[in-house]
Amino acid sequence: KARLGVLLSGRGSNFIAIADAIAKGSLTGCEIAVVLSNIADAPGLAAAQERGLATEAYVSKGVPRAEHDARMIAALNAHEIDLVILAGYMRVLSPDFIRAFPDRILNIHPSLLPSFPGLDAQKQALDYGAKVAGCTVHFVDEAVDHGVIILQRVVPVEDADDETSLSARILEQEHQAYPEAIARVLSGRYRTEDRRYRLS
Ligand code: GAR
Repeated sequence: KARLGVLLSGRGSNFIAIADAIAKGSLTGCEIAVVLSNIADAPGLAAAQERGLATEAYVSKGVPRAEHDARMIAALNAHEIDLVILAGYMRVLSPDFIRAFPDRILNIHPSLLPSFPGLDAQKQALDYGAKVAGCTVHFVDEAVDHGVIILQRVVPVEDADDETSLSARILEQEHQAYPEAIARVLSGRYRTEDRRYRLS
C-alpha cells in the first residue's frame, strides 16, 4: 500500500474526504501514514486523532522556512511516505522540500489554474467577474500553484454568489476531485508529457 503523508493547516475537510474514501473502499491501494500540521490546534489535526491516525504538529510561526521544512521532511521520511498530500496547507514549500519528494507532492487549489493562484482564490474569481470557477489538483513544483495539472472540476458562478456560497460549491467538488486524483496517480497508468498528464 502506498503511504500518504497529509499536510494541513486548518479545517481539514479535504483530508476527511480522502480518509472517508479510503475507509469506504472507493480509494484503494493506499493508507494515511501520518497527518502533519504547522498549526498546533488545527481542527483537521484533531479530526485525524479522532480517527486514530498518527499526527504531528511542527509550529511554523517564527521559524525560518528552511528549518521548518527540514523538520517536516524528516517527519515524512520517518513515516516512509510515498506521496505527500497538501490539503489546505497554507505555507509555501521551500525548494529543498520539493526536491526531497520529486513528482510526489500533490496540492488542491480552489480555482481553475492558471487563473487565481495564491490566497482567496474564490474571492479573486468573484472580483474578476468569472462565470465559471472550480478546483485543480496538481503536482507541486517550485513555482507557486504552477505544477502539472492532474485534474480539474468546474462549477458555475451564480449571479447571487458571495464568497461563502461559491466556496461551498467548489469545496463539494474538491472532496470528489482529490480522492480521484490520488487514485489516478497511484494507478501508474498516467504519464506527464509536455506538461500534460494523461493516460499512457
Ligand atoms: C480548500 O478550499 C483548499 O482548496 C484551499 O484551502 C481549503 C482548505 O480546506 N487551499 C488553498 O487555497 C491552497 N492555496 P480544508 O482544510 O477544509 O481541506
